[in-house]
Amino acid sequence: MDREMVIVLDFGGQYNQLVARRVRECNVYCEILSYKQDIGEIRKKNPKGIILTGGPNSCYEEGAPSYTNELFEMGIPVLGLCYGAQLMMHQLGGKVEAAETREYGKKKVYINPETKLFAGVGNKAAEISGRIWPDHDLNCNETICWMSHNDYISVMPDGFTAIAHTKDCPVAAAQDESRQLYAIQFHPEVLHTISGKEMLFHFVRDICGCSGSWRMDSFARAQIDSLREKIGDGKVLCALSGGVDSSVAAVLLSKAVGKQLTCVFVDHGLLRKNEGDEVETIFGPDGNYDLNFIRVNAADRYYEKLAGVTDPERKRKIIGEEFIRIFEEEAKKIGKVDYLVQGTIYPDVVESGLGGESVTIKSHHNVGGLPEHVDFREIIEPLRDLFKDEVRKVGLELGIPEQLVFRQPFPGPGLGVRIVGEVTADKVRIVQDADAIFREEIARKVDMWRNTSENSLPDWMPDQYFAALTDMRSVGVMGDERTYDYAVALRAVQTIDFMTAESAQIPWEVLQTVMNRIINEVKGVNRVFFDLTSKPPGTIEME
Ligand code: XMP
Repeated sequence: MDREMVIVLDFGGQYNQLVARRVRECNVYCEILSYKQDIGEIRKKNPKGIILTGGPNSCYEEGAPSYTNELFEMGIPVLGLCYGAQLMMHQLGGKVEAAETREYGKKKVYINPETKLFAGVGNKAAEISGRIWPDHDLNCNETICWMSHNDYISVMPDGFTAIAHTKDCPVAAAQDESRQLYAIQFHPEVLHTISGKEMLFHFVRDICGCSGSWRMDSFARAQIDSLREKIGDGKVLCALSGGVDSSVAAVLLSKAVGKQLTCVFVDHGLLRKNEGDEVETIFGPDGNYDLNFIRVNAADRYYEKLAGVTDPERKRKIIGEEFIRIFEEEAKKIGKVDYLVQGTIYPDVVESGLGGESVTIKSHHNVGGLPEHVDFREIIEPLRDLFKDEVRKVGLELGIPEQLVFRQPFPGPGLGVRIVGEVTADKVRIVQDADAIFREEIARKVDMWRNTSENSLPDWMPDQYFAALTDMRSVGVMGDERTYDYAVALRAVQTIDFMTAESAQIPWEVLQTVMNRIINEVKGVNRVFFDLTSKPPGTIEME
């Protein structure tokens, strides 16, 4: 596998994973490292370039994140973005100060098209600006960028020249070509920056000289070969949830070692409607893959454990622990295995603090952690280096059905966190049926949309949507009868990273149809709410 690499040095900004994804979209492999990592670690990886990310601090303040100046003397190109740009200027003898006007949002930026970074980028802006930004016709020396900064670069270090500016920001970008150092005050990684992708492409491909050989088809082939070699005739055990990550991991292993792989699928009775059977259809004995498949129908066991439990954290714990117990029981029947497969993906690695600087740790997100009583030699994480969209690409390369590859995220504890309060079999039935209706109606509307708009998705298309069951019962009337039933909450959000989210503007007529169908078709429900809350302050799931 060709590991030509660019390193993203993380100073704690909110778009840092996005920077790495954009680099990979240029077909260049990229890893995120915390600014606390020693320069020796960077040297070992032998990168072809380094990108310093944004961050929330002011670089001139005491204790602000910094890095050794040796970084700028490694003889490879370095690009600073936002905080990274200011830090580069500050450390190399320039000056960064608090700005009188905080720049935030879309700004017109004047660029020097004679530079490698900005060559040709103004053309696209000029072409589309009038359409997307009605009051502005841009010429080829201008584009639109996404700014978010309180400080500005007032003096550049010796050797640097300004290559972009805005009305309020004299140095929106700077370069010292002789030292291969580049600084951009705005955020090219954010889609609001027109041609931001091209700017990053220019950096990694033209300036760093990366050839762009990182591709998902070659990743899949190389992984299968190296897994086969590593595992030999060993036995492999995989906990399959039916989600994208564990499914892609399982298929990679099945292609590598066939029946040496056993997948255990625990149906905890908290899956979406028909989901257990769908997973079995794909992976079971009549399915598409060469592997041993064990389905454990454990719904009753879970409902029993969850009876009377209302505290969200306690519920999560029970669901997680029960999963581990069941998995261990099954593993015991199989006996000693050599390898245990985990569907860990790159954002999990970064979020758990092993990669970048992110402090958000959601320990509850991986159901239950690792089994203690399974006898195995080593863990295999074949997707550890990939972002979600890359995992999906690998899934498609491997011929996994599209409905599985593009499945929306579904929490490990399943409907357990979508039923507020106590979980019962009847409540699971209600939320499954309501959710199936919501998904059906969204799919219908999206299909209609696609048929009339060149296959594109509507701009209200949610990234995650589902029905949840509140713990509220209220009075209603149906026919001439009084009802006293539950309220279903519909949730639909748009998000890039699931860390923050906005509620999606689902067309009113869709919500009305869904409401009508749920009230009429799902026994036990007499009210339907639409959850407008963004995240924060809400979370996406109810619990
Ligand atoms: P929250 O509710 O934290 O959810 O805003 C953010 C994203 O994570 C998913 N989620 C989970 N995924 N195990 C998972 O695998 C969990 O315990 C879990 N809790 C939330 C949620 O569906 C959303 O996509």
